[in-house]
Amino acid sequence: MSFQPLLGFLLILSSIYSQAAVLKYTFVVQETNYTRLCSTKNLLTVNGQFPGPTITAHRGDTVIVDVINRGDQNITIHWHGVKQPRYPWSDGPEFVTQCPIQPGANFSQKVLLSDEEGTLWWHAHSDWSRASIHGLIVILPRLGTTYPFPQPDEQVPVVLGEWWQSDIRTVTENFIRGGGDPANSDALTINGQPGDLYNCSNTGTTKIKVEQGKTYMLRMVNAAMNNLMFLAVANHTLTVVGTDGAYTKPFSSNYITISPGQTLDILLVANQSPNNRYYMAAKLYNGQPASRFDPTTTTAIIEYAESSTPPVFPDLPAFNDRNASFNFTRRLRSLASTQHPIDVPLNIKKTLFYTLSINAIPCPANQTCEAIRNTSRFAASINNITFGMPSTSILGAYYRGMNGVYGNDFPDVPPLKFNYTQASGLNVSLRLPEVATKVKMLKHNETVEVVFQGTNLVAGIDHPMHLHGHSFYVVGSGFGNYERSRDSLTYNLVDPPHMQTIAVPQNGWTAIRFKADNPGN
Ligand SMILES: *[C@@H]1O[C@H](CO)[C@@H](O)[C@H](O)[C@H]1NC(C)=O
Ligand SMILES: *[C@@H]1O[C@H](CO)[C@@H](O)[C@H](O)[C@H]1NC(C)=O
Ligand SMILES: *[C@@H]1O[C@H](CO)[C@@H](O)[C@H](O)[C@H]1NC(C)=O
Ligand SMILES: *[C@@H]1O[C@H](CO)[C@@H](O)[C@H](O)[C@H]1NC(C)=O
Ligand SMILES: *[C@@H]1O[C@H](CO)[C@@H](O)[C@H](O)[C@H]1NC(C)=O
Ligand SMILES: *[C@@H]1O[C@H](CO)[C@@H](O)[C@H](O)[C@H]1NC(C)=O
Ligand SMILES: *[C@@H]1O[C@H](CO)[C@@H](O)[C@H](O)[C@H]1NC(C)=O
Ligand SMILES: *[C@@H]1O[C@H](CO)[C@@H](O)[C@H](O)[C@H]1NC(C)=O
Ligand SMILES: *[C@@H]1O[C@H](CO)[C@@H](O)[C@H](O)[C@H]1NC(C)=O
Ligand SMILES: *[C@@H]1O[C@H](CO)[C@@H](O)[C@H](O)[C@H]1NC(C)=O
Ligand SMILES: *[C@@H]1O[C@H](CO)[C@@H](O)[C@H](O)[C@H]1NC(C)=O
Ligand SMILES: *[C@@H]1O[C@H](CO)[C@@H](O)[C@H](O)[C@H]1NC(C)=O
Repeated sequence: MSFQPLLGFLLILSSIYSQAAVLKYTFVVQETNYTRLCSTKNLLTVNGQFPGPTITAHRGDTVIVDVINRGDQNITIHWHGVKQPRYPWSDGPEFVTQCPIQPGANFSQKVLLSDEEGTLWWHAHSDWSRASIHGLIVILPRLGTTYPFPQPDEQVPVVLGEWWQSDIRTVTENFIRGGGDPANSDALTINGQPGDLYNCSNTGTTKIKVEQGKTYMLRMVNAAMNNLMFLAVANHTLTVVGTDGAYTKPFSSNYITISPGQTLDILLVANQSPNNRYYMAAKLYNGQPASRFDPTTTTAIIEYAESSTPPVFPDLPAFNDRNASFNFTRRLRSLASTQHPIDVPLNIKKTLFYTLSINAIPCPANQTCEAIRNTSRFAASINNITFGMPSTSILGAYYRGMNGVYGNDFPDVPPLKFNYTQASGLNVSLRLPEVATKVKMLKHNETVEVVFQGTNLVAGIDHPMHLHGHSFYVVGSGFGNYERSRDSLTYNLVDPPHMQTIAVPQNGWTAIRFKADNPGN
C-alpha cells in the first residue's frame, strides 16, 4: 500500500516525458465567400479559413484529422514533410496513395509524427486546390525538452500564398485545356492578406504587433504554387534556426529565399525603436525571363506601436537574382548536435541521376494549344518521363497485386546524354517526353543518392523537388552540368541540411542522400 503514491508519481513523470498524445481535428472542406482586391468570390477552404487552421502538436504525437468534403470537387489532403512511418495510407496524393475523397464523403486521416520538430504544413494534393487549401503544422519540442536556442517570447505564423481574382478551378481548367502557362496570380499574400500595396487591401493588412526586446519565432511556409520567394523585414535581421521540420545551425541574413513547399523557422528580435513600423515584404523569385509570373509585392506590418507614419520598406534582391537565391539556400546546415544528431549515409548502395525538364508535346491536329506560340502543350518530366495519372491508387494496386496500373522500370539515368544546360540550339525533337506511369523500386533500408540535373530543353527553371515519407540530406549543389569526378568532391557530408523540399537551381544540379527506411510509395 505504501508504495502506491510513489508508483503513481513515477507513472505521471513517464507520461510527461515520453507519452505521446493523440490529438483530434476536424477539417470541413467547403466553399466560402472571400473578399480581396475589391471583389468577393467563392473560395474552397478548410473550416472557412484562408489559410486553413494550424495543427499544433508535440514531437512524436499522433494527429487524427477527420476530413469531410462538403465542396463539389474531389479532394485529398497531404501532410507535407510528415514521414508517416510504415503508414503511407493517409499520406494524401490522389491516385498515388489513395483515391480522392469525393463530394459528400469523408476520410479520417492518421498523421503519425516521429522525429519531425519545427514547422511543416498540410495542403490539398489534387490539381490546384492546394492554392486555397493549406495550413501550418507546428511541432513543438517534446514535453520536458526545450528548443536548442533560448525560448522565443512568441510564435508567429507566416504563410506565404497567392490570390487569383478568378476562380482557381477556372484557372486550372484553362491551363489544362490549352496546355500553356497558368494565369498569373493577382496578388501574393501573407496569412491570406495581400497587404496595403494592393487596391482595397489597407484594412485587412496583416499586422504583427511586437514589443521592443522580445524575440519572435516566425514559422514560415511558401504555399505559392510554382515560384520561390524572397522575403525581408526592414531594419531587422532574420536568424534562421530550422527548415522542413529539423533544426539548423543558426545564421543571420537580411533576406531569405524560400522554395514552394519549404518551411523555415526564423527568429526575429524586436530591437528597433519602440515607436516605429516596419514592412515585412515578399515577392516571387523568377530566374527565367521568358516566363510569366506575378511581379507584385505582398506586405505585412511589424508594428511596435500604432502610428500613422508609413512603415519602412526593406531591400529585397532583384526578382531574377539567381545568386541571391542560391547563396541563401547554400547556407543551410544541420544543427548536428548531441540532442539533434544526424546520420548522413556514407556508403551509397544506389545512385540515381535524374534530369528535370520542361517539355513540349506537339498540339494534336483538332485541338487548340497555347504553349510555344500555340504549337504545343507544356509538360514536365524526370528522365524524359512525364507522369501519366493512373485511374486507381498505385498503393492500392501494389497491395492488391493489380497488373497494368504502373510499370516498375523507372530508369536510373536519362535515356540520352546531352549538354543539359546548353544555352540555345538544343534539338527541338528532344523536347518530346514519354508519357508513362512508372515507379522506381528501392530495397528496404537501401542507401540512395539522387543527383537532380535541371535541363534547358524548353526553358531552365528552378525545380522544387519534394520527397514523401523521408527527409533527405542535401549534400551538394551547383550550376551547370553535374560531373561526378569533380562535383562529388565538393559534397558536405558533415552537416548537410535535412530537408524534404529543395529547389534545384536553374540550369544546375542538387545531390541528395537518404536511407529508404520507410516502406510505402
Ligand atoms: C458571395 O458573395 C457574392 C457577392 O456578394 C454573392 O453573390 C454570393 O451569393 C455569395 N455566396 C455565398 C456562398 O454566400
Ligand atoms: C473523383 O474521384 C473518383 C474516384 O475516387 C474518380 O472516379 C473520378 O473520376 C474523380 N473525378 C474527377 C473529376 O476527377
Ligand atoms: C463519414 O462517412 C460515413 C459513411 O460514409 C458516415 O457514416 C459518417 O456519418 C460520415 N461522418 C461525417 C462526420 O460526416
Ligand atoms: C488599383 O486600381 C486602379 C483603378 O482601378 C488600377 O488602375 C490599378 O492598376 C490598381 N492597382 C493595383 C496594384 O492593382
Ligand atoms: C532603418 O534603417 C535605416 C538605414 O539603416 C536608417 O536610416 C533608418 O533610420 C531606420 N529607420 C527606422 C525607422 O528605424
Ligand atoms: C552571379 O555570380 C557569378 C559569379 O559567381 C557572376 O558571374 C554573375 O554575374 C552573378 N550574377 C548576378 C545576377 O549577380
Ligand atoms: C553570392 O556568394 C558569392 C560567393 O560567396 C559572392 O561572391 C556573391 O556576391 C554573392 N551574391 C549575392 C547576390 O549575395
Ligand atoms: C479529335 O480527334 C480525335 C480522333 O480523331 C477524336 O476522337 C476527338 O473527339 C477529337 N476531339 C475534338 C475536340 O474534336
Ligand atoms: C494563340 O491563340 C490565342 C487564342 O487562343 C490568340 O489570342 C493568340 O494570338 C495566339 N498566339 C499566337 C502567337 O499565335
Ligand atoms: C554546355 O552549354 C553551356 C551553356 O551554353 C556552355 O557554356 C558549355 O560550354 C557547354 N558544355 C559543353 C561540354 O559543350
Ligand atoms: C524523350 O523520349 C521521346 C520519345 O521516345 C524522344 O522522342 C525524345 O527525343 C526523348 N528526349 C530526351 C531528352 O530524351
Ligand atoms: C531495416 O532497418 C530497420 C532498423 O534498423 C530494421 O529493424 C529492419 O529489420 C531492416 N529491414 C530490412 C529489410 O533490412
